[in-house]
Amino acid sequence: MLLIIGASGFIGNKLFSYLKNKGLDVKGTYHSKTLGSAEKDGAYLDLGNPDFSNILDLKNLTHIFFCAGVTNIDECKINRNSSYKINVTNTIKLFENFSHTHVVLVYLSTDMVYSDTEKEFTEADTLAPSTEYGRQKLEVEQYIEAQFRNYIILRLTKVYGVGKGDQTLFTTWLDSFMRHETIFSADDIFISPIYVMDVVLALDCLITRKHYGIFNLGGHETATRYEFSQRLAKYFMYNLSLIEKKSIKDFQFIEPRPLYSRLSSSKTIQATGIELTSIEDCFKSMKENYNKKCQRQQ
Ligand SMILES: NC(=O)c1ccc[n+]([C@@H]2O[C@H](COP(=O)([O-])OP(=O)(O)OC[C@H]3O[C@@H](n4cnc5c(N)ncnc54)[C@H](OP(=O)(O)O)[C@@H]3O)[C@@H](O)[C@H]2O)c1
Repeated sequence: MLLIIGASGFIGNKLFSYLKNKGLDVKGTYHSKTLGSAEKDGAYLDLGNPDFSNILDLKNLTHIFFCAGVTNIDECKINRNSSYKINVTNTIKLFENFSHTHVVLVYLSTDMVYSDTEKEFTEADTLAPSTEYGRQKLEVEQYIEAQFRNYIILRLTKVYGVGKGDQTLFTTWLDSFMRHETIFSADDIFISPIYVMDVVLALDCLITRKHYGIFNLGGHETATRYEFSQRLAKYFMYNLSLIEKKSIKDFQFIEPRPLYSRLSSSKTIQATGIELTSIEDCFKSMKENYNKKCQRQQ
């Protein structure tokens, strides 16, 4: 049996559906949301005040995918104590139950464990998080490395989807264009977003091929947020005047945002054999998804 902690979240939910569609025995936890039609395969979990009995009762558990926690960068800083309790203290408490077992622990981490420099980071590069969120993720990574033999830590850049209303990078922009709302886009923040199904496939391949350790995964196309938003507007034939060019200095963030977000995915690609989906292909899928929804509404 496979268990997804955070199966109601964006990545966890895609992973949950994918593994279920493969016919695998999968359970997932949820917190404030539900698992919809898959509710019978779900268990409530509050990492702020956890009762792990549902999880510890599961029989024949082989893998735990950890896709949960406080994922908002500013919230981790503003509510430092409560986010630390969820993201570090109680996450580690949960993991302690499995550290000397054969369960493979799969932990989703972030490029924010690195410093903010113009570099395509490899797994071997020095770690120097500049945000509370990054420090919390790194603390758990270090616990796992010290306590588990069979683990996968997958560090990710910004993850996006193509489903209408999924509120990820491109769909949020597209939804604004459709409402004829102006978006504000920084031309000095470089990102290399990764498609969520590439993340799911990579995870599946890593566990199937039994590749353990630390892996980085980021998209192979890097551009500024401004350039990506222009590309999207052109693809969907919206007027470019809907995009207002900004600088990172124009945004009021509580925590510093990295100017560069790039990861070298070579090790992951070599281990899994996956081919990363192009942004152009994702735009095509978005178009199909948005058209489908419109037809259904008519
Ligand atoms: N998305 C990205 O761009 C990205 C990039 C790098 C790394 N990551 C990492 O990937 C993982 C998944 O990210 P995501 O974007 O899918 O996150 P998400 O959509 O914010 O989902 C977070 C999940 O954590 C659950 N959760 C929140 N608070 C909880 C609590 N107190 N107790 C138990 N569960 C709780 C949520 O449950 P409810 O929704 O039911 O409340 C949800 O299932 C995270 O660990 C994140 O650090 C994500």
